[in-house]
Amino acid sequence: MRKVEIFDTTLRDGEQSAGVNLHFHEKVEIALQLERLGVDVMEAGFPASSAGDLRAVQEISRRIKNVSVVGLARTHLADIDAAWEALRDAQAPRLHLFIATSPIHMEHKLRMSPDEVVDSSIQALRYAAGKFPMIEWSAEDATRSDWDFLVRIIQEVIRAGAKVINLPDTVGYTTPKEYAAMFQYVQQHVDQIEKVTLSAHCHDDLGLAVANTLAAMEAGVGQIEGTINGIGERAGNVALEEVLVAMAIRKSLFGIETGVDLTQVSRTSKLVSKLTGMVIPANKAVVGANAFAHESGIHQDGVLKNTLTYEIISPESVGVGSNRLVMGKHSGRHAFAEKCKDLGLTLDNENFNKLFEAFKALTDKKKEVTDDDILALALDSSLEDMGGKYELDFLHVSYNSTQTTTAVGVRTPGGQVVREVATGKGSVEAIYNAIERAVQDPVRLEDYRIQSTTGGQDSLAEVYVKVHFHNHAGIGRGLDNDVLAASAKAFLDGLNRVLLKEQLDAIVTSAAPL
Ligand code: KIV
Ligand code: ZN
Repeated sequence: MRKVEIFDTTLRDGEQSAGVNLHFHEKVEIALQLERLGVDVMEAGFPASSAGDLRAVQEISRRIKNVSVVGLARTHLADIDAAWEALRDAQAPRLHLFIATSPIHMEHKLRMSPDEVVDSSIQALRYAAGKFPMIEWSAEDATRSDWDFLVRIIQEVIRAGAKVINLPDTVGYTTPKEYAAMFQYVQQHVDQIEKVTLSAHCHDDLGLAVANTLAAMEAGVGQIEGTINGIGERAGNVALEEVLVAMAIRKSLFGIETGVDLTQVSRTSKLVSKLTGMVIPANKAVVGANAFAHESGIHQDGVLKNTLTYEIISPESVGVGSNRLVMGKHSGRHAFAEKCKDLGLTLDNENFNKLFEAFKALTDKKKEVTDDDILALALDSSLEDMGGKYELDFLHVSYNSTQTTTAVGVRTPGGQVVREVATGKGSVEAIYNAIERAVQDPVRLEDYRIQSTTGGQDSLAEVYVKVHFHNHAGIGRGLDNDVLAASAKAFLDGLNRVLLKEQLDAIVTSAAPL
């Protein structure tokens, strides 16, 4: 068996998905879960892009012990400095330097000649080698680059100290055969290529990311990059869980092993979906709600006789349904602490007490509290450390079949409570109109989604919104027993995320080209 390293970029490339804007605590929570999943490398962010990213990468570097933590950087001195600032405390820090190598990117985006791109890479690598023990270099848009130019530049960057060479399919353009052939060409033409690890990084614009990644693996790459649930720019990155399960299910075909604990797949996927607000389609491979559901009579009959008739993946092997212990009114602190441990929640005393109180309050309204409820409660306090923010003080809704009137009290970042009344065609519209008046700035609602954490009448309501406020998009999440209160909270959470982004953008570090 050959070992392939798993490089997760959910927190960097995944976070670049339209509208996703993870808060500091949420990034740390995902990083801790990726460590439990057992990836080899995690790209925690792009430290030079904002002070918020730098701080998150720094915290993740300090907290993660068993996974190499990576920061992205352009071939700019200031980017490398910011990455070192963020990663210097990591157990195994890695720099990920990238520069575009395709004619279209070099000419129109970088406005650099091929010689300048080679030069910039060499200088950046020499500079970074003084700080980082491990440097990965990426040829952005490799699949639309000239193969002989790739051979030339790879040769140079290996001499300058790169240890991992990543050839991304940045725009999701290649096909399995072509991607494999590109790696084979590089292996045949670059001297001492065996001294470095080749890496595949696929985007899914043509729906080929999994096939392309598996083809690259068969062509001999030693590392694959992707994101949980396939989140990422445009159509997203390759969904790591799909590649991992394909490798495991077809182990004898691929002859590849990884250090990943597949039983953590389901939890990782749910966590990423909840925190990013990116819903997983029910029919999504491996982690969709229907991935293990059998509907037709013939299929059900077959599965009852022998699950192998229609089930190539067992739900337990990816952590689905393996933890069904339900908590309720009579569960005490000890049982609750055990449950939190099982769920992988890392809580200090103060946060444990808060979560326990929220759990107890929920048991008054809900008979059976499930794992998903507890996770939803634990994730609900994510913006708590934010300085000034909007909060819901009270909500009153009066409904009749022609019009709804709402009164809200919104506590502003300055601390005073603004009371407003508004009407709307429906309850949610009336609430949002009243909040918009209270914050005294236009807010455009771009998306609204509601789901229940579990089935049943007493389920918690989880609302996701996308709002446009102060020229920024913000995704907000709200949780409550009541759908209208959850809707109001989600709206305010969206506004708070925009405020937080504004605070952090005010201290963005600037990057000077080499
Ligand atoms: O898709 C891409 O090319 C990237 C690079 C920054 C590696 O994400
Ligand atoms: Zn990418």
